[in-house]
Amino acid sequence: MTVVNGQSPQWEHISNTRMTPEAVAELSGFKSGAVNFKLGLWDTGVNGVRYLKALTYNLAATLSEPNWDRLRRIHNRDVGDPISVTYHGESVCMDYLRAVYELEFIADRAPLDGARVLEIGAGFGRTCHALLANHDIVEYVIVDLATTLELARNYLSEVLPPHLFERLRFVPVERTEEELAGLRFDLCVNIDSFAEMTPETVGYYLSLVDRQCERLYVNNPVGKYLDKSLDGHTQGEEIVKLALSTGLLRDVIDIHDDRAVAAQSRKFLDAYRPGDGWTCVGESWAVPWSYYWQALYAR
Ligand SMILES: C[S@@+](CC[C@H](N)C(=O)[O-])C[C@H]1O[C@@H](n2cnc3c(N)ncnc32)[C@H](O)[C@@H]1O
Repeated sequence: MTVVNGQSPQWEHISNTRMTPEAVAELSGFKSGAVNFKLGLWDTGVNGVRYLKALTYNLAATLSEPNWDRLRRIHNRDVGDPISVTYHGESVCMDYLRAVYELEFIADRAPLDGARVLEIGAGFGRTCHALLANHDIVEYVIVDLATTLELARNYLSEVLPPHLFERLRFVPVERTEEELAGLRFDLCVNIDSFAEMTPETVGYYLSLVDRQCERLYVNNPVGKYLDKSLDGHTQGEEIVKLALSTGLLRDVIDIHDDRAVAAQSRKFLDAYRPGDGWTCVGESWAVPWSYYWQALYAR
């Protein structure tokens, strides 16, 4: 008998493969498994891009007007083909959303026009790009590992106009002492990289900041995690061990528990204070990752 409101060929397939009588009889684990993944969009195993785009879209939907202005001033954001969504006619990706949130936090607490900036560990250079596009930065020095530094040089020469690119200096870690000798900076920036260095290296950089900088902006994880459901430890147990051994904050916490993160953020504030004469002039959770904190210190 033909049933007018019967299942479509798509649902026939689902009923035969996922929503089977045996599967629906079992409640244990069904919400985080194959059955529920067909009732919602929750299949975490295959929907990485969907989740990233949904998160990006939601952040774009709640972006403040001043942050839209900051984002629009950063040209050539699509170089390198980011995973992006379109909102208000603008292409929006996670890298530059984070950059405008970070810039907002810094700009509210530190003078940026006319500033000399030192960034340690700049990745491809999104923060540098965002700062130079929004403020009259006099000089921007990046200290990084040689290969990443080349990526930043390559990328920033493509996205920045020549008159801004010439304000940059690229310093490989081996040449830090020589190239930075005698220089003073209004601001040092470290985003998502102190936590990946040895404790000795972080100590070295904090002492450099203490001697040569007026302010420090840090945005890093407050601790480590071991929840295998988050990434499947796909890079292998050795890489997990390496990640657990780096940085100043190595306590393993539940990174999706806001109270655990807030408690650990007190250790974060102590760990990154460059020296005795420094005070924290602002701190908060760093959107969007649950376990990142940001702080700005001044002497
Ligand atoms: C996860 S990436 C973050 C990049 C960038 N700050 C961002 O948020 O997009 C870590 C950065 O730290 C750099 N790095 C790693 N070890 C370093 C070291 N010993 N000294 C300076 N930079 C380092 C890496 O090359 C990379 O640029």
